[in-house]
Amino acid sequence: MAFAVGAAMALSRLPLQPILGDKSPFIMATPGMIVAAFLGGLWPTIAVGLIGLWVGQVAMTSQGGPGLGPVGIVIYAAFAVVFAAAGEMRQRGVKRARADATRMAEMHLRLVQVARLNAMGEMAGTLAHELNQPLTAIASYAGAARWMAHEPGKAPEVAELLQKIADQAMRAREIIGRIRGHVSGEELALQPRSLAALFREAAAIATPGGMRPDVQLRYEFEPAADAVLADQIQVQQVMVNLIRNALEAMGETPRQRLRIGSRVADDDLAEAYIADSGPGVDPELGENLFEPFVSGKADGMGIGLAVSRSIVESHGGRIWAEVAPDGGAVFRFTLPRVPEAAA
Ligand SMILES: Nc1ncnc2c1ncn2[C@@H]1O[C@H](COP(=O)(O)OP(=O)(O)OP(=O)(O)O)[C@@H](O)[C@H]1O
Ligand SMILES: [Mg+2]
Repeated sequence: MAFAVGAAMALSRLPLQPILGDKSPFIMATPGMIVAAFLGGLWPTIAVGLIGLWVGQVAMTSQGGPGLGPVGIVIYAAFAVVFAAAGEMRQRGVKRARADATRMAEMHLRLVQVARLNAMGEMAGTLAHELNQPLTAIASYAGAARWMAHEPGKAPEVAELLQKIADQAMRAREIIGRIRGHVSGEELALQPRSLAALFREAAAIATPGGMRPDVQLRYEFEPAADAVLADQIQVQQVMVNLIRNALEAMGETPRQRLRIGSRVADDDLAEAYIADSGPGVDPELGENLFEPFVSGKADGMGIGLAVSRSIVESHGGRIWAEVAPDGGAVFRFTLPRVPEAAA
C-alpha cells in the first residue's frame, strides 16, 4: 500500500517537468519516498527511490538530455537513505508500541483471571470452612440419635436430636445463602440483637457435643453494650470462629479459661471480646493474622479470621487481636450499637 502510494506520486509528477525543469522527476520522487517511508519503512522507500531514479533517467535521456550523473545519483541516494532510515525507525517504534499494548492487554487479562481465581478460591475455602461446622454437628447428632433409637422410651430425646439436625441443616442453608449474597453484593439483614443472646447461642453452636468439661467459661456482658445492629447469622459466624479458635488454642492445657464479654466502646459502638488462656497468637503471624489462608495450625485452613474480618467490617466495625496480661489471646470486635430509644 505504502509502496503503491509512493510510486504513484513519483510517476504522477512527471507532467510537472516543464515547470520544475530537467531534474523534476528526481525532485518529485522525493515526496513519494517520504510517503513510502512514513507508511511502509525501509524497503518501500528504497523501491520508490529506485523507480523514481529509473523514471527520471528514462524521462531525461528520452529528451536527448544526459541523465543524472554520478554526483547527482549520490545526492539522490543520500536523500533516499535518510528517508528510508527515518521511516524504518518510525515503523519499528509503531510495531513496538503495538506489541507493548498487546502485552499490556494480555497482562491485564491474566490479572483479572488471577483475581477471579483468588475470589473463587476464597469463596470455596469459605464455604468449606463454614459448612464444616454444621455438617460435623449434624453427623454427631445423627450418631447420637441412631444410638438412642434402639433404647425403649427415648422417643422424645430422639425427636429433640432430629430437631437439632433440622436446625443445623437450616443453618447450613443460611450460610450458603449468606456467601452467595456476599458474592453478589447483597445487603446485610441488620436487626437489633442482644450480644449476650447471640454469644450464648454461638457458644452452643461451636460445641455441638457440649463445652469440654475442663473449660471454665465466664460471661461478662455489660447491659449498656448489649443491643447491637447485626445480621444474626453473620455475626454468630464470627463468634463461632473466634470461640473455636480459642478452644483450639487452649487445646489440652490445664486450667483452661474462656471469658466472653461486651463493653461500651463509644457512643456508637459496642465492643465484644473473647479472651482465652492459651499460648497467645504466634507473633510471627503478625500483621497477616486476618489474611486468607494464613494459619499457624497443621490442619488449619486460615479462613476463619479472614471471614470474620470481612463480616465485621461489612457491619462498620473493626476486629483485632491483643495479648492478655496472662499471655493468652484476646480477640475484640466492634459493632454498631442500637440507639437507646430504639433498643
Ligand atoms: N485464640 C487464639 N490463640 C492463639 N492463636 C490464634 C488464636 N486465634 C487464631 N490464632 C492464630 O491465627 C491463625 C489463623 O486463624 P484462622 O481462624 O483464620 O485460621 P485457622 O484456625 O488456622 O483455620 P480455620 O480456617 O479452620 O479456622 C491460627 O492458625 C492461629 O495460629
Ligand atoms: Mg480458625
